[in-house]
Amino acid sequence: MIEATREHPVDIDSLRALATSSIELIERLQDASGAYPASPTFSAYRGYSWFRDGAFIADAMSSAGRVASATAFFDWCSSIVLARRERIEDIVGRAAAGNPAPDREMLPTRFTLDGADGDDEWWDFQLDGYGTWLWAVVEHARRHRIDLDRWAPALVLTVDYLLSSWSRPCFDWWEESADRVHVSTLGCISAGLRSVAGSDVIDPTRLAQSTAVVDEIVATIRERGSSDGHLTKWLGSTDVDASLLAMISPLDVVPVSDPLGLNTVATIERDLAQDGGVHRYRRDTFFGGGQWPLLTCFLGLADAARGSHDLAMDRLRWAASTADADEQLPEQVGWHLLDPTRVDEWTAKWGPVARPLLWSHAMYVRLAVELGVTKVGRAA
Ligand code: BGC
Repeated sequence: MIEATREHPVDIDSLRALATSSIELIERLQDASGAYPASPTFSAYRGYSWFRDGAFIADAMSSAGRVASATAFFDWCSSIVLARRERIEDIVGRAAAGNPAPDREMLPTRFTLDGADGDDEWWDFQLDGYGTWLWAVVEHARRHRIDLDRWAPALVLTVDYLLSSWSRPCFDWWEESADRVHVSTLGCISAGLRSVAGSDVIDPTRLAQSTAVVDEIVATIRERGSSDGHLTKWLGSTDVDASLLAMISPLDVVPVSDPLGLNTVATIERDLAQDGGVHRYRRDTFFGGGQWPLLTCFLGLADAARGSHDLAMDRLRWAASTADADEQLPEQVGWHLLDPTRVDEWTAKWGPVARPLLWSHAMYVRLAVELGVTKVGRAA
């Protein structure tokens, strides 16, 4: 069964203490290579680091002033991309020739901590993490005045990869529905390309191409990735998915001042939030489809962006309440399950829900920094 501890206190001192211990936990578990393990103990994730999780973890650490930790993660990303230069050039060349590489030859979504592809079967073809790392590293460099030249060759290669393949269907944030083009994935790609286009690391040709693709993605999202005034899970869908919250904040693909952004937040709140915690999407059955602290923190960031500080504090408190007695946050809690009949099969397959999940801790930290609950720490 999914644990249902609700022991963790949510007074302001406890919230602050949880932010501090979360930062320490992430630092302690970061590998010497710079990789952030998704979850050190969970059977299916052990030994792997994801570009998606890692980019958001690094962004949280960067926002909390842990500069060296974030830099080490981006160095790890950079070394992974550079080590695959020939493969990327081949993918780009084949796309240009109208003969795109099959999904299984595209870059994976996760790597072993020492930077290898890994041999376990996985739903590997996902494009979002490559956009998110571009976005996060540029934010980090801007925030702490670091010269992006350190990562420039890998940024250029990643830009080429995304420019060549951005419109392909692939697995989404949840590693599902590979036959769709996911709006969150497009949003991550456009945020990454936009960020690099705003820096000075790419030449005029790539700059023009990136700007054109960003414009095309935004137009596509508005025309085919929205319904009834809100963003949708994939192009042509009418449903929402909580990953769309990242489009509003922190990625700022659709600002909260835009009715499309505001209505997306309101629809997710209406359709996916229950008693304070946020589900991934209505038909979710993974471990019964519980509520995710990290998504609840994304909702808090969107609330903060729309000026609802008190609501955002409620989200932070809810996320804190999912911590166990060791101050460890899970991937999800089973307090409200969308499909309780599906818990056992996942528990039998993979064991109990991942805890600690570093991405949960990171989003908690990111929201705590945003709300001024935790002070930005030493710049080391
Ligand atoms: C989630 C992914 C995540 C991975 C590692 C999966 O269950 O669907 O979004 O990247 O776990 O945390």
